Amino acid sequence: MKIDGTSYRSIWAEDDGLTVGIIDQTRLPHAFVTRPLKTLDDAAVAISDMWVRGAPLIGATAAYGMAIALRKDASDAAMDEAYRILHATRPTAINLKWALDEVIRNIRPIDVGSRADAAWTLAAEICDSDVETNHSIGAHGLGLIKAIAARKPDGETINVLTHCNAGWLATVDWGTATSPIYQAHELGIPIHVWVDETRPRNQGASLTSWELGRHGVPHTLVVDNAGGHLMQHGKVDLCFVGSDRTTASGDVCNKIGTYLKALAARDNGVPFYVTLPSSTVDWTIHDGLKEIPIEERNGEEVSWIAGVDNEGKDTKVLICPKTTPVSNFAFDVTPSRLVTGLVTERGVCSASRAGLAKLFPEMANQP
Ligand code: MRU
Repeated sequence: MKIDGTSYRSIWAEDDGLTVGIIDQTRLPHAFVTRPLKTLDDAAVAISDMWVRGAPLIGATAAYGMAIALRKDASDAAMDEAYRILHATRPTAINLKWALDEVIRNIRPIDVGSRADAAWTLAAEICDSDVETNHSIGAHGLGLIKAIAARKPDGETINVLTHCNAGWLATVDWGTATSPIYQAHELGIPIHVWVDETRPRNQGASLTSWELGRHGVPHTLVVDNAGGHLMQHGKVDLCFVGSDRTTASGDVCNKIGTYLKALAARDNGVPFYVTLPSSTVDWTIHDGLKEIPIEERNGEEVSWIAGVDNEGKDTKVLICPKTTPVSNFAFDVTPSRLVTGLVTERGVCSASRAGLAKLFPEMANQP
């Protein structure tokens, strides 16, 4: 995507073949700051401290983290240690494990002296393929938008609600939930996005609003609790959200609060679509509620709100008594029965074992 005339991806390899560049997303929307990742530790901290976040981008960063680590030591022991360190950074998004497994599967059989270059190339391929995948998700999601447009009077705006940031910042480019929106906007289809603020870290407010604004997509920021009201009053035509992990039977784990939006959508007959690359499907599990580990983060993210003051200086505000006990579950699970459909790179399917198996038979039928 373009920022002030320069094309950016959310992650890129520098020409030295040793350094990876990222956008520090903790500084958005008030400052656009890029950072170099030069060591395995840099890559691990970038993921755990959420300089980068969003399931596909976490995976891409982990792949580059392995490549960086192998430049220093490409032995089996060093590979295993890098895998362990990166895998421990965040527990819920399965793309992290997917990307690490891809590196091990492809690089382990290679002789030690050639591993680092090969891992570097593989990480770049994972990024390129993410971009292609998200573009395809967008094309399939665009079909859903067009179908709704066809049922509306000519030129009437289509209202989409989204939660968290499943935008280009959460992937390498395009985003998943935003890809159909960007593609519709590029075609001149009138589209407007309700952006959930997404407490506690406010990825909707700080990242999705920023992205959509940069691309001129009309949008309105709403508090997390507004979605039900908007749906009751016919102000939402469809929901597009992302996923951090989807079970083989179509249960969807995404940012905390997604489940409540799905309930409201069901009650109001609003289509609720989950957009995801197949690397987000955990083919080994079937019951999202029982089998997906839900990340619990520092309670300070709930009790303190970060922002900037009138002078643009970073600041934090305490919003409850200092001693109030706090819990901070980062994700929740939306059962497949509440999901209208899964929008993947191979098309739209029902959120079910049969639906996924039809699109991805080679994955679903693994022993
Ligand atoms: O905690 P985050 O910001 O990493 O959570 C991100 C989300 O929940 C996204 O919706 C999900 O990763 C899908 S991104 C295409």
